[in-house]
Amino acid sequence: MGKHKKKIKVAFVGCGRISRNHLESMLALKKECEVVAVCDVDRERAKMAGGKTGAEVFTDYDRMLAESDCDLVSIATPSGLHPDMGVRAAERGRHVLTEKPMAIDLDSADRLIEACDDNGVMLFVVKQNRLNATMRLLKSAVDKKRFGKIYCAHVNVFWQRPQSYYDMAPWRGTWALDGGALMNQASHYIDSLYWLVGDVAEVVAIAGTLARKTEAEDTASVALKFANGAIGSVNATMLTYPKNFEGSVVLLGEKGTVKIGGMAINRVEHWEFADYDDDDKFIEQCNYAPPNVYGFGHQPYYENVFAAIRGEAQPETAGRDGRKSLEIILAAYKSAKDGVKVALPLD
Ligand SMILES: NC(=O)c1ccc[n+]([C@@H]2O[C@H](COP(=O)([O-])OP(=O)(O)OC[C@H]3O[C@@H](n4cnc5c(N)ncnc54)[C@H](O)[C@@H]3O)[C@@H](O)[C@H]2O)c1
Repeated sequence: MGKHKKKIKVAFVGCGRISRNHLESMLALKKECEVVAVCDVDRERAKMAGGKTGAEVFTDYDRMLAESDCDLVSIATPSGLHPDMGVRAAERGRHVLTEKPMAIDLDSADRLIEACDDNGVMLFVVKQNRLNATMRLLKSAVDKKRFGKIYCAHVNVFWQRPQSYYDMAPWRGTWALDGGALMNQASHYIDSLYWLVGDVAEVVAIAGTLARKTEAEDTASVALKFANGAIGSVNATMLTYPKNFEGSVVLLGEKGTVKIGGMAINRVEHWEFADYDDDDKFIEQCNYAPPNVYGFGHQPYYENVFAAIRGEAQPETAGRDGRKSLEIILAAYKSAKDGVKVALPLD
């Protein structure tokens, strides 16, 4: 990046658990951006984020929007708050970045997409796993058509979230602000099915709250039929004893079989194709040890966001792309609730 480029000014809201990944990523990219304001209703958290970044501290979101001169508003509050906060930022002509999921229902996701379109601002939804070295390699194999026809695509998210995790904040596991294992923890994995294989045409799901004291599910299985005829599944539980065990994606095609696994798609566990490609040389070096299941993807995600705002790149995950995984998850919830097969797109 040339020295003359103007720094992108960011106002950040929601200084909780995932905020560290955001703030540290932006600090690492301080040649490209400046965090000018941080906000949390919890003053201590906001102050801590302010101390880290040197940004002005707010406890009221609308005041931050009114008083801070920023190009981008970055939102990491409870999921159900993302769309409304995003709409308010868009109405003030700010670009919007929201943590996943962008919303927990389609109407408010659509309102957010529309508000960004109407106000001529960009909408980014954090899907940092797409930027894992392992996933980039897999996406490259798909784009080069190395699998031939893809027959099956399966994801497993066998993690552990103890009751104390849900008790940490009242929004966790509620239908009003969060959702369960599918909407929260598995959403990146469901996104990767769409990203790798394409639109989903039908889902059948079973979900249950087997052990945690939450409204939404701690465990679910979903069978999927893709629009291109491939068949797939999502298996997710937050009850794995005694800790996170597996986060994986398996693709089975006519001419290739790949499993990206490890705790959070951080290791190529199997890589086999009929035909050689130079990508095969990178299998070993793209494995990495993640610090946690969130990985290292927020920084490259922000790099892409800043490049997209400067007009130098296409967004990695824009609003309409973020809506895709949301729709699959909502179809799965409808199927589990009504005991029926659900066709997409949803009405
Ligand atoms: N990309 C990822 O891998 C990843 C990982 C974890 C969480 N997330 C997402 O990030 C979001 C936040 O998750 P978390 O685990 O950090 O939650 P958290 O509860 O730890 O943090 C949320 C913060 O938002 C603040 N907040 C709530 N309402 C507010 C309001 N009206 N104005 C200002 N601040 C407000 C809370 O005080 C809290 O500090 C969720 O949507 C979650 O799905 C994404």
